[in-house]
Amino acid sequence: MQVIIELYKSTIGKKLLVAITGLMLFLFVLGHMIGNLQLFAGPEKLNAYAAFLQGLGGALWAIRTVLLLIIGIHILANVQLFFQNQGSRPVAYRVKRTLEVTYSARTMVWSGPIIAAFLVYHLLHFTVGSVHPAFVPGEVYQVVVSGFQVWWVSAIYIVANLLLGFHLKHGLWSWFQTLGMSHPKYNACRTGFAFGLSGLIIVGNLSMPVAVLAGWVA
Ligand code: HEM
Repeated sequence: MQVIIELYKSTIGKKLLVAITGLMLFLFVLGHMIGNLQLFAGPEKLNAYAAFLQGLGGALWAIRTVLLLIIGIHILANVQLFFQNQGSRPVAYRVKRTLEVTYSARTMVWSGPIIAAFLVYHLLHFTVGSVHPAFVPGEVYQVVVSGFQVWWVSAIYIVANLLLGFHLKHGLWSWFQTLGMSHPKYNACRTGFAFGLSGLIIVGNLSMPVAVLAGWVA
């Protein structure tokens, strides 16, 4: 136990936790997207999938608890790393060089809190239904379609998922760095991998509000 506490106190320990929890969250987002894409297969398919998840009962609550814990650890370790970095450089650099830092890397600090805020809205919207005027429990297809038919709701999802894409791209790229898999020989491959996977999530998640707004799914 002492070893784990000491590891957590160190920067590398926190970075490792961020990398591990980040990978788990990425896998959740990927699985969630694949499940949700059944929207294109029609109401029976999507509603049956949602009913299957609800039918897991206690196991679903166990998954939700673990997911909440993972999100909590990911946020806590990142916040502590942020303040640790601020504290280790009390005097600002005279010349700030951000040439090496990509746009998505600089957006991590604020894309994280915005994604967390989106998640709260999303749960109230599609899971609890308290901010969805046409929410019907169990009618997931109907709930998603009528939700996205409101243009500003779709706009929230589109902006949040674009930010999520940037966040994932930098997260996946950093993942290799933390695990020591950084070498000039493989960096192009690493960038391509991060770009491809985050692009896949963006395209998949944006396709749903866009298809509803365009009237292709009704
Ligand atoms: C266009 C994109 C998305 C769609 C259509 C969508 C759809 C849904 C739906 C319909 C539910 C409720 C399922 C149910 O109650 O049976 C749900 C729950 C959830 N979504 Fe999404 N989602 C999207 C994007 C996201 C993103 C980007 C995240 C994470 C950042 C996310 C995280 C969650 C979580 C954590 C739950 C709760 C799962 C549970 O309690 O079982 N979703 N989503």
